[in-house]
Amino acid sequence: MRELVGGGTAPTRYEIGRVAKPEEIQARDISVLPANAGLPPGHRTTREGKGLYSSLCATCHGPNGEGRESYAALVGGRGSLTGAKPVLTVGSYWPFATTVWDYIHRAMPYVAPGTLTPDQVYALTAFLLHAEGIIGEDTEMNERTLPLVKMPNRDGFVADPRPDIGSKKGGPRHRPEPRDRPPPLLGELDDTLTDSFQDYGVIKVFKSVRLPSARVKA
Ligand code: HEC
Repeated sequence: MRELVGGGTAPTRYEIGRVAKPEEIQARDISVLPANAGLPPGHRTTREGKGLYSSLCATCHGPNGEGRESYAALVGGRGSLTGAKPVLTVGSYWPFATTVWDYIHRAMPYVAPGTLTPDQVYALTAFLLHAEGIIGEDTEMNERTLPLVKMPNRDGFVADPRPDIGSKKGGPRHRPEPRDRPPPLLGELDDTLTDSFQDYGVIKVFKSVRLPSARVKA
């Protein structure tokens, strides 16, 4: 209890709610970071993803991910980002394949988010990556291979320069751009990805492109 001005005491706890159960925390703790932290085990190729995509996703995003009316294109748009009408897709824009996995797992299908199993999400991610020509038809996506996929726009971002976006250790976020560092050895890849993801901060600043404000995402 703390003393209040004018007498009386204020409770230090309000005795509402209850402690979350481990399984409740686990159900919400689904974030997947670029260096595969948080990816659950599972594996599929685009072969399984094709049918799933047709039945669960094509009505909105088009049969081949080309988008439809007001629904976003997921495929295509490569090279459009510096033009007058940038088309932001998995292939043209997204820097990490693991984020595609995270997004689908967390938010899609739009009317029933959270209903896909890990294997289904690996299959759908593989389908989109294959549709972009990033992986082959037989390339299996699993918790080990997905973080190793190098996305076409991986180097198309710069660090958030705002001084108040500090790192956890309190220092400034500015560090060398990933491409200025020596290429990582395979064993070091995971750490490198984590580091560079932190460089980007929450807001991603996009090089030399003005985005239509409705499409800028945190
Ligand atoms: C009912 C329509 C609908 C269906 C079905 C649907 N989506 Fe979406 N999808 C959306 C909408 C709307 C957005 C944009 C949501 C937002 O920005 O908040 C979106 C966004 C996305 C994005 C991010 C696009 C970007 O670059 O911003 C991905 C990836 C995606 N959907 C994948 C899928 C997959 C995979 C499926 C099938 C499992 C699916 N969607 C099913 C409506 C749909």
